[in-house]
Amino acid sequence: MSLSLAVSNRGYFRTLLLLGLAFSAPCWAQAPPPALAPLGNPPIPSGNPQTEAKIALGQILFWEEQLSRTGTVACGTCHAPEAGGADLRSLGSLVGSQHPGPDGQIATADDRIGAAGVPRHDSEGRYIHAGVFGMSPQVGTRQPISAINSGFPTRLFWDGRAQGAFNDPDSGQTLIAAGGVLEIQALGPLVNDVEMAHVGGDLGDIQNRLIDARPLALAAAVPPALVEFIDGRDYPTLFDAVFGAGGINASRIALALASYQRTLVANRTPLDLELSGTPSLTPLERQGRQVFQQAGCLRCHGGPLMSDNNFHYIGARAVGEDLGRMAVTGLAADRGRMRTPGLRNLSLSAPYMSDGRLPDLRAVVELYNRGGDFTAPNKAPEITPLNLSSTDIDALVAFLGRPLTDPRVAAANGPFERPLLYSESDRVPQMQDLAGRDPGLQLIALEPPRAGRPDFTVALQGAPGFAQVEFLLSTEVIDDVLDGALERLGVIASAQGSAAVELPLPVSGDLLYVRAFVRDAGAASGWRASDAVRLRLLDAVAEPPLFASGFEP
Ligand code: HEC
Ligand code: HEC
Repeated sequence: MSLSLAVSNRGYFRTLLLLGLAFSAPCWAQAPPPALAPLGNPPIPSGNPQTEAKIALGQILFWEEQLSRTGTVACGTCHAPEAGGADLRSLGSLVGSQHPGPDGQIATADDRIGAAGVPRHDSEGRYIHAGVFGMSPQVGTRQPISAINSGFPTRLFWDGRAQGAFNDPDSGQTLIAAGGVLEIQALGPLVNDVEMAHVGGDLGDIQNRLIDARPLALAAAVPPALVEFIDGRDYPTLFDAVFGAGGINASRIALALASYQRTLVANRTPLDLELSGTPSLTPLERQGRQVFQQAGCLRCHGGPLMSDNNFHYIGARAVGEDLGRMAVTGLAADRGRMRTPGLRNLSLSAPYMSDGRLPDLRAVVELYNRGGDFTAPNKAPEITPLNLSSTDIDALVAFLGRPLTDPRVAAANGPFERPLLYSESDRVPQMQDLAGRDPGLQLIALEPPRAGRPDFTVALQGAPGFAQVEFLLSTEVIDDVLDGALERLGVIASAQGSAAVELPLPVSGDLLYVRAFVRDAGAASGWRASDAVRLRLLDAVAEPPLFASGFEP
């Protein structure tokens, strides 16, 4: 499209040139957009040189679910390579990833698909009812941006709010004057009470949690190179080995996480090969590349990263639904503007756009082909109907898929190799789907059932407000509230009908079951029963010195 425009504009161009020779750069004459180019390696800030050991520590921390009080969320939970560096969970069922949007109501037009973090909980780990999420994991307001290739942009997040200098959170001293956005970003999720933290949690809690944790103790599998690196050592010893004496502190956590993320470079896509001179695209994909260029996509998605690292409102949603960049600058012109995302590994990272509103790449191309669905005075002038033919659409969809996907990312190997998380393994408590359960009662059991722990949290929602609730822990599924149990804890549900307890788990044993019963005068037995959840006890996590010899992956 812009090709044909350029041709028909040539005469006009010449006339204007003749008319305005005095103006060396007429204000309307845009520079040609940056061409696609192979991706290199990200810059390394001098304040945080890369070392093998620091990268390994960063990888461990990135995949460490014990950084969350609940033991259920690591950075990698929302940033898995198999999902292109975003949330693996929102690839299948979107249940659990829905956010109600500004109106606070689920199933309305402004809903979003975000990434689930932790249930709202206090410093003791007690769950707190959180609006539409109840006692289930809360969902963030936006789609994760890939942590892969995150070493390149000079500003991070959809609204670019991570920018500037990285200062030591403890001393205030500037550690990286420029180029340290990954370090700035890294500490945010750790203290965010939707993503990983308890309400009011701070970086001190994180340090304490690491002192008490055996590295990757919850992971269901750990790559051999990491097992070798950990070598039975505890976190304070690992931090000393990487940074010198001084143990764990917040800035070291940030430096290690950033170093690891700078190694997550997806630059072996078929497109990178093609651009470096090895033909790797099919004819249809090549045609798609042409369409990509002619349709003006390069204007914002050009260069090696396929992003101008700038902010635009493209009319994907009503301009007021998310302030975007305006939340950072306060400028009305920035209302609804989002940072242009890079496009590598798109085929893995559905759903699309910052609110996850588009389910697949065809829907994205169709949105651009329509010229967006909404408008506002600050809408990007490039976004106008494209009138692409259906073969052009097919070709463009093909180009956005395989050619932009690094096979190492999809297969989680090379730098993308990773531990298997507790939360994605069969170690998580399993619902039993019992015939006699009351479908209105929702039992929630997410946390690792570690043997001997006094505070295994289970919750129930969907009960009548202020109902009497009994939680029973047993070695077999209990059908009657009066049956014997290993532990029995009774509570009164909140006004919203939710309740949570901390059950002490035995130090040994194999399978255990938890079930909740709700007092209901109308029910035959006087009680309604929830589903039951089966727990397979995990080894106790003892103080680190006990594990100095013999780390079991
Ligand atoms: C509960 C899900 C969740 C967890 C846990 C999480 N993130 Fe994110 N991450 C997100 C979301 C959502 C965004 C985009 C937020 C925005 O732009 O407002 C994001 C953005 C980022 C970005 C910005 C990428 C870019 O190009 O702008 C980086 C880097 C990142 N996260 C790294 C991390 C690290 C490191 C951790 C662990 C300390 C972490 N994330 C934990 C959901 C999560
Ligand atoms: C004016 C700048 C601009 C132009 C031109 C542009 N984009 Fe975008 N693109 C963006 C921005 C900004 C977003 C994020 C918008 C949001 O979520 O609100 C985006 C999002 C996307 C996404 C979703 C990525 C993800 O991870 O969710 C894809 C795919 C995409 N664009 C492809 C294209 C294609 C194909 C074209 C050409 C037809 C194009 N873009 C033209 C700025 C642009």
